[in-house]
Amino acid sequence: MFALPSAAPQPLAGRVVLLSGAHGGLGAAAAQACAAAGATLVLLGRRLPRLNRVYDAVAQAGHEPLLYPLDLEGASPDDYAELADRLHAELGRLDGVLHCAAEFRGLTPLEHLDPAAFARAIHVNLTAPWWLLQACLPLLRQSADASVVLAVDDPARVGQAYWGGYGIAQHGLRAMVGMLANELAATTVRVAGLQPGPMRTPLRARAYADDLGEDLRDPEAYAGACVTLLSPAGAAWRGQVWDAAAGGVE
Ligand SMILES: NC(=O)c1ccc[n+]([C@@H]2O[C@H](COP(=O)([O-])OP(=O)(O)OC[C@H]3O[C@@H](n4cnc5c(N)ncnc54)[C@H](OP(=O)(O)O)[C@@H]3O)[C@@H](O)[C@H]2O)c1
Repeated sequence: MFALPSAAPQPLAGRVVLLSGAHGGLGAAAAQACAAAGATLVLLGRRLPRLNRVYDAVAQAGHEPLLYPLDLEGASPDDYAELADRLHAELGRLDGVLHCAAEFRGLTPLEHLDPAAFARAIHVNLTAPWWLLQACLPLLRQSADASVVLAVDDPARVGQAYWGGYGIAQHGLRAMVGMLANELAATTVRVAGLQPGPMRTPLRARAYADDLGEDLRDPEAYAGACVTLLSPAGAAWRGQVWDAAAGGVE
């Protein structure tokens, strides 16, 4: 039996991609698009039943994914080292990381923010993604063309009042894109940010109860941009944040 050639182009064929926040709004949409684009996915999320649902959709769209249940809040650098070891042992390579995990619990004045909630927001939204990337870098460096993509929020919005630790961490994450990209400029690992426009997801709903924004989209609208940044075409955004709603970069 010959396999039928796929009709759709597969810009991620042969690539192994680790996707965090895989059962979130953008993460689940990106997972399906990346699978359809030919990637083998490792789906990282904190709730196994929800990961299983994404698994089913991804397996239908492309290669069977691997599931990696992990809570970024409690994970230590040793846990990320173990993740990298398992990726190496089970798949032998890593060509991309798409970081979509983020925690936002609601708008609160900084002055009234519970100290532990502030620390948790900075940890989950800034420290944890760095620990994850740091552990994965040795494996990424072995790829001929590796792509790190960090989903980031609009700094003009989350720098306003009440966005708390999430808003502050988002500014740090954006700084990480440029800094890490510069440090890896001479390597095969490129780093870019993806700033989607407002999306109908649980995260957004925690800030806006009645959200009727004209620019509000389903997360599927930005899944293609995730594929592009992970693919060879993503090299055009090396070291930059793609403002995908506006179509521009900054
Ligand atoms: N929605 C927007 O309007 C918007 C706009 C611009 C940028 N973004 C960015 O887009 C990305 C995706 O956000 P989204 O809107 O898709 O939000 P979402 O639907 O809430 O997805 C976020 C995901 O992160 C996971 N997560 C949270 N804390 C975690 C932890 N401790 N360990 C592991 N996973 C954890 C969540 O898990 P649970 O499902 O268990 O909560 C969820 O699956 C984020 O980087 C966000 O900053 C969103």
